[in-house]
Amino acid sequence: MNRATALACANIAFIKYWGNRDAALRLPLNNSISMNLDHATTTTTVAFDATLNDDEIIIGGQAANDAPRARVVAHLDRVRALAHIETRARVHSQNNFPMGAGIASSASAFAALSLAATRAAGLELSERELSILARQGSGSACRSIPGGFVEWLAGTESANSYAVPLAPPTFWDLRDVIVVVSTTEKRVGSTDGHAAAPTSPFLATRLAALPARLAHVRRALFARDLAALGVALEQDALELHFVAMTSIPPIYYWSPGMVRVIDTARTWRAEGLGVYFTLDAGPNVHLICEAKDADQIAARARAIPDTHQVIINAPGGAARLVPEHLF
Ligand code: PMV
Repeated sequence: MNRATALACANIAFIKYWGNRDAALRLPLNNSISMNLDHATTTTTVAFDATLNDDEIIIGGQAANDAPRARVVAHLDRVRALAHIETRARVHSQNNFPMGAGIASSASAFAALSLAATRAAGLELSERELSILARQGSGSACRSIPGGFVEWLAGTESANSYAVPLAPPTFWDLRDVIVVVSTTEKRVGSTDGHAAAPTSPFLATRLAALPARLAHVRRALFARDLAALGVALEQDALELHFVAMTSIPPIYYWSPGMVRVIDTARTWRAEGLGVYFTLDAGPNVHLICEAKDADQIAARARAIPDTHQVIINAPGGAARLVPEHLF
């Protein structure tokens, strides 16, 4: 039995991935830029075992079924095809952040699965090859393979659509203070969001603005200029949500609580605090700030009545093998 365990960070996009040019291969319409999150990680152990008749997938201590299981099995099939094996696998996966918190876990999950499964199958893929593989499980997972600050090059085909590191985690002591806003609404999966994006009349406007915004974000990152970064990341988060809301059918990730957190953070900024928001496809507000302000911002965020939970993240490292196995 060949067994391997990998750990990967989730990531928060400064420039978002929203919409595919090829949905099956998860080739995106645009480049995206993100930061890995050191306190939102998935650990996954994979073992290929000739005694198994079927793949056994345990996520957060529970057997996975239906669509989540099928997505993991499809990813194992990609690894089996690469390794020229047919052996079934046992997979155990665990997030270090609470499941119902609404933090998207598919990026860290498919990055960790890609590394653990290829190693367990006896393959040693390069960072680029791993990123290409992870992308096919969940687009944003390709950005969780390299460490720190990362750009996903959209490319034109599978072989040239992967993420590259822009700067290591130590380059800039940024923080992502995730404010989880309590919600009872069911989350619309991002796969459905990507599929609906081309029906929005605003998608073309967004895509036309992106080359200049990507260049702006790269410049702000390399200059460690939070105010410059902040303007672009707020604009980009809002645009993703405008596209989602104006898609057919419309997708609303917004809740009154999220708007109150955004609004409150804007008043802190007006008072002189360096804080900028971004949003993912869930009931969270991500407050981007420098390390020196993170504790104060987290304490203020906890005092907002809509806040369910606050998680402070520093820039996280690359997906990596770890010696402790989950089984
Ligand atoms: O990788 P997916 O299919 O879960 O898409 C991610 C979509 C966003 O989180 C909203 C944006 C992004 O670039 O991470």
